[in-house]
Amino acid sequence: MLLIKLTCLLFTSVVIAQQIENDVNPHYAKLLNHSMLFYEAQRSGRLPETNRIPWRSDSALTDGQDNNISLSEGYFDAGNYLKFTVPLSYTLTMLSWGGIEWIESYKQANLMTDLRDSIKWGTDWIIKAHPEPNVLFVQVGDGKVDNMYWGPDTGIPLPRPSFMINSSSPGTDAAALASAALSSASYLFRNRFNDTEYADTLLSHAYDLLTFAETAKPWRAYSVSVPAAVDYYNTNTFQSQLIYGNMWLYKATENVTYLERANAHYDAFNSTLVYGVMDWSDPTGAMLILGATLDADKYQARAMRYLDTVLDTTQNSSICKYTDGGLFYCKGYSTSNSVMPPLNMGFLVAIMKKAFPNLLNGSYTSFIQRQIDYILGANKMFSPYVCGIHKNSPHNPHHAGASGGTNLKKINSEPKHMAHVLYGAIVGGPDDQDNFYDIRNDYLQTEVAIDYNAPFQSLMAYQISIQAADPPYVTITEDRPVLIPEDVKFEGWKIAVIVVSIVFAILVVGFVIYWRKQNQKKKNANDTLFEKVEVVAAAKR
Ligand SMILES: *[C@@H]1O[C@H](CO)[C@@H](O)[C@H](O)[C@H]1NC(C)=O
Ligand SMILES: *[C@@H]1O[C@H](CO)[C@@H](O)[C@H](O)[C@H]1NC(C)=O
Ligand SMILES: *[C@@H]1O[C@H](CO)[C@@H](O)[C@H](O)[C@H]1NC(C)=O
Ligand SMILES: *[C@@H]1O[C@H](CO)[C@@H](O)[C@H](O)[C@H]1NC(C)=O
Ligand SMILES: *[C@@H]1O[C@H](CO)[C@@H](O)[C@H](O)[C@H]1NC(C)=O
Ligand SMILES: *[C@@H]1O[C@H](CO)[C@@H](O)[C@H](O)[C@H]1NC(C)=O
Ligand SMILES: *[C@@H]1O[C@H](CO)[C@@H](O)[C@H](O)[C@H]1NC(C)=O
Ligand SMILES: *[C@@H]1O[C@H](CO)[C@@H](O)[C@H](O)[C@H]1NC(C)=O
Repeated sequence: MLLIKLTCLLFTSVVIAQQIENDVNPHYAKLLNHSMLFYEAQRSGRLPETNRIPWRSDSALTDGQDNNISLSEGYFDAGNYLKFTVPLSYTLTMLSWGGIEWIESYKQANLMTDLRDSIKWGTDWIIKAHPEPNVLFVQVGDGKVDNMYWGPDTGIPLPRPSFMINSSSPGTDAAALASAALSSASYLFRNRFNDTEYADTLLSHAYDLLTFAETAKPWRAYSVSVPAAVDYYNTNTFQSQLIYGNMWLYKATENVTYLERANAHYDAFNSTLVYGVMDWSDPTGAMLILGATLDADKYQARAMRYLDTVLDTTQNSSICKYTDGGLFYCKGYSTSNSVMPPLNMGFLVAIMKKAFPNLLNGSYTSFIQRQIDYILGANKMFSPYVCGIHKNSPHNPHHAGASGGTNLKKINSEPKHMAHVLYGAIVGGPDDQDNFYDIRNDYLQTEVAIDYNAPFQSLMAYQISIQAADPPYVTITEDRPVLIPEDVKFEGWKIAVIVVSIVFAILVVGFVIYWRKQNQKKKNANDTLFEKVEVVAAAKR
């Protein structure tokens, strides 16, 4: 009897252990879910019936009208209402790539439809923005008009001009990146969603866009053709983008012509590539890691050298160091949105580790883990840099719609508390002292953007796949310390100076009066003395 009971107990515990092992971590599943809620909150155009963001409305329905086409829908870029093709393309490529590698995580978290819809909302728009083989719209909205507006999506100011690249005004990088986005999404839809029809549609646009990038000369960065983008998403390169576009088209088609072309470009551009921290403006790092998975002989060693160089913080020449709190912080990259270098590099390490598990030892995976932990609360502020997940989450993301404010001049104070929680949005992050001030107009720290969430979301899928331990914020009970920013401190300092000056002035005046009185007394005494002397003298006379 006892034996049977014991056996039963053992059996039950094995079953429970197995269940737990197969269960998706609820915290990472929630972060994955919320990241896609953030994308939903960024939707432009007519919103579908299924919209889950109650404070959003139909918006910007006439986009593209100035060029007689419809450019409505797609994603608003950040806390404002501009739309840009280059950061959108980066975003969609990173989301698709993460979906390709860690699709099981989305399945386990019951988020397959969400992934599909969030990517399709972006790729459908790129297709609209590509009405002819050699035309691609790269921006909608004028930054000078849009950035003067702080208010809800129901009052977005006009005009909202649309800007294109074409045969006579090329933008090699933008066309190649848009092609990469559609190729990667095509691979995802064909091989993970079994949606051949949409995959084919994506691929035909990807092919035309890459042909446009290759053939429209001179090769140059799109911002040369569209100066309106310069202040927002200026790129200086087209080389890495051209290689990257060919690599993704090769992955999507398995047509070796594109790999050969990528390799030929790589050899030709070798000396002009900048092996810096990967981001939306330059996919060199992503190109090397993708290349390693496609043609190990040619790219694997260079990809490893790239990772080792960027991640090595010990050399004098290292552009990246760790803050005292442990954030991977890179000169020239981290002054604004400091969470991006660790997220982008963490993403690349995770892809490389999956492709070559034996090549990357534990120091690489602990890099990813430490950076994710930092971003999810293991920091001096006790703050996860994700909105709406914890009491210490940022409360003041730089986002006009979510803020509920309508007065740009009172952006920080009206309303005092944000009207809507921007669930799942990653904010820019702390400074090099690990300090985070949570102030709405401090866009270096509190801006949100579609490109910030892309590597983050893919890394949450990675965390689910490796069954990572709970994120740090789960056990955090301390409050985030309230920091007084330098400019406010300066105000206090000025007040102190004024007070000290007044006290000093009173003292000086007091001293002068005292001194004059003393002098007067002396003079009186002298006068008396003179009088006495005179009296004595008079007496003598
Ligand atoms: C748009 O169409 C109108 C009416 O056909 C035409 O007058 C206008 O020139 C067109 N604009 C552009 C930018 O093609
Ligand atoms: C994702 O979050 C939303 C909003 O909280 C919720 O309604 C939905 O059920 C979640 N989805 C899953 C699969 O958990
Ligand atoms: C080509 O693009 C340039 C730059 O955006 C634009 O000024 C020009 O009007 C476009 N050409 C045509 C034919 O639309
Ligand atoms: C796609 O098809 C494969 C093979 O038939 C199947 O294993 C997989 O579950 C399907 N995926 C989806 C998302 O339908
Ligand atoms: C591969 O791509 C090249 C260039 O686009 C094309 O000429 C060729 O027919 C393609 N090959 C196959 C097998 O589809
Ligand atoms: C890149 O070019 C340099 C100098 O031309 C050469 O030494 C190096 O081997 C090249 N690297 C690759 C991967 O082709
Ligand atoms: C690194 O910098 C320190 C301090 O500037 C200097 O003393 C040292 O020689 C440098 N090391 C190398 C390898 O350049
Ligand atoms: C992991 O690999 C790196 C690069 O090859 C090496 O510098 C490091 O010492 C290794 N770390 C461990 C723990 O083996």
